[in-house]
Amino acid sequence: MKLWGGRFARRARDPFFEGFSESFSVDHRLVHYDLQVNRAYVEALGEAGVLSSAEVRRLVRGLEAIARRVNHSPNWPYGNSAEDVHTWVEGQLGRHAGSLAGKLRTGRSRNDLVATDARLYAKDAARELQRALTHLLESLLTKAREHRDVILPGYTHLQPAQPILFAHYLLAYFEAFSRDISRLEDCRHRADELPLAAGALAGTTFPINRSRLARRLGFKRVAVNSLDATSDRDFVCELLFASALTGIHLSRLAEDLVIYASPAFGYIELADEYSTGSSIMPQKKNPDSLELIRGKAARVLGRLTGILALLKGLPSAYNRDLQEDKTALFDGVDTICASAELMARVLGTLRVNTARMKAAIDQGFLMATDLADELVRRGMPFAQAHKRVGQLVLYCVERGKTFATLSADEARRFIPGWDRTLAAAAQLPERALNRRRAVGGTAPAQVNRQMRFATASLAELKRRLQTNARSMRRWA
Ligand code: ARG
Repeated sequence: MKLWGGRFARRARDPFFEGFSESFSVDHRLVHYDLQVNRAYVEALGEAGVLSSAEVRRLVRGLEAIARRVNHSPNWPYGNSAEDVHTWVEGQLGRHAGSLAGKLRTGRSRNDLVATDARLYAKDAARELQRALTHLLESLLTKAREHRDVILPGYTHLQPAQPILFAHYLLAYFEAFSRDISRLEDCRHRADELPLAAGALAGTTFPINRSRLARRLGFKRVAVNSLDATSDRDFVCELLFASALTGIHLSRLAEDLVIYASPAFGYIELADEYSTGSSIMPQKKNPDSLELIRGKAARVLGRLTGILALLKGLPSAYNRDLQEDKTALFDGVDTICASAELMARVLGTLRVNTARMKAAIDQGFLMATDLADELVRRGMPFAQAHKRVGQLVLYCVERGKTFATLSADEARRFIPGWDRTLAAAAQLPERALNRRRAVGGTAPAQVNRQMRFATASLAELKRRLQTNARSMRRWA
């Protein structure tokens, strides 16, 4: 079955081209949206006087029957040779309603239909991503709570820098993923616009009440320009950008954890469930879960650049190239949902080795800044303090010493007035943490405050997402 053909002298397409151009193997995922949109459209056609109420009833019953059958056996549409999901639905409707099914697409095109289906999907997909990320936030926060006293060597340039609370480190990612969730809310907002009844490009000649149609389908607004409505794919780009950026955050976290799990660092150990072995090296325990999360972020980044490249040279309004948008969108969303979920599990089960962190802090001169700051409190200009502490570090490095194994006499050669307070500043990470009490710092009091905020925002998020799940179920 085809939705077109009269214009052609030769009925058949080259089967190779048929296979090349079909999208049903991808867009069958939109079947529930397509049925929902069709139902609302049939009712709108009834209200516009295009269909009689008997016709509306018959078509709606047919659409409902198809929906029930898809619900009951989700695999039913698979392997069908329909050109796309819209063709398939109309074909199936024909079995229930005969030639009446041919009235379904009155005043409408697949151009406005596919954009409508895709926007409905995008809104749900954004929610699904938000849910997966919320689970990840929960995992980060739980880990932070469990390890609220653990001190991690903080790095810049991957060189030992200053001590930080492990919880502070985890909460940094809590912030990043929270931004991702809010970005997804923005994506949802802009996707929340009805293209339907924009026709192929110029609008419809039938008196469809588009505002009512929008309300019926749960859209907040009606697209006000039919050309834009049928060809705008900003919502696909935005959702893929939000996914790609989430992927980048996941990838950076994964990279950190891969490094921390390496025996050279040994700060964490992944649970066996999320590690793999080597086929040749019996001793290996590899963090493949994290490497795959890192790798899949690259793939989603590719999906984003792919859709942008697709759109760049397109002339106005619908072009068939746009069919490729769904492959990119589905894959990007699925990949990031799965990555976020896996990351939540990996985090939830990893073990922390505080002794290794402590040793690295002692050996890495991480309190050098604190020592310099202490000298500043005694009146020395920071530039001078910086230089003296630097010279002291060089002395230690050359002799294989640390601030803890240094004698007071040695220290005095570089630092005037070396005493217990200065030694404590150089040796005690807890002291370094406590000093960083300004808002946003890694002092335990500040980190506890962060945790309180995080707890509240997580509870609010869960409440909101749950309410939405309920309203979505009502719709379906
Ligand atoms: N399968 C097409 C897509 O996904 C549906 C729209 C086709 N429209 C058309 N005029 N050929 O974009």
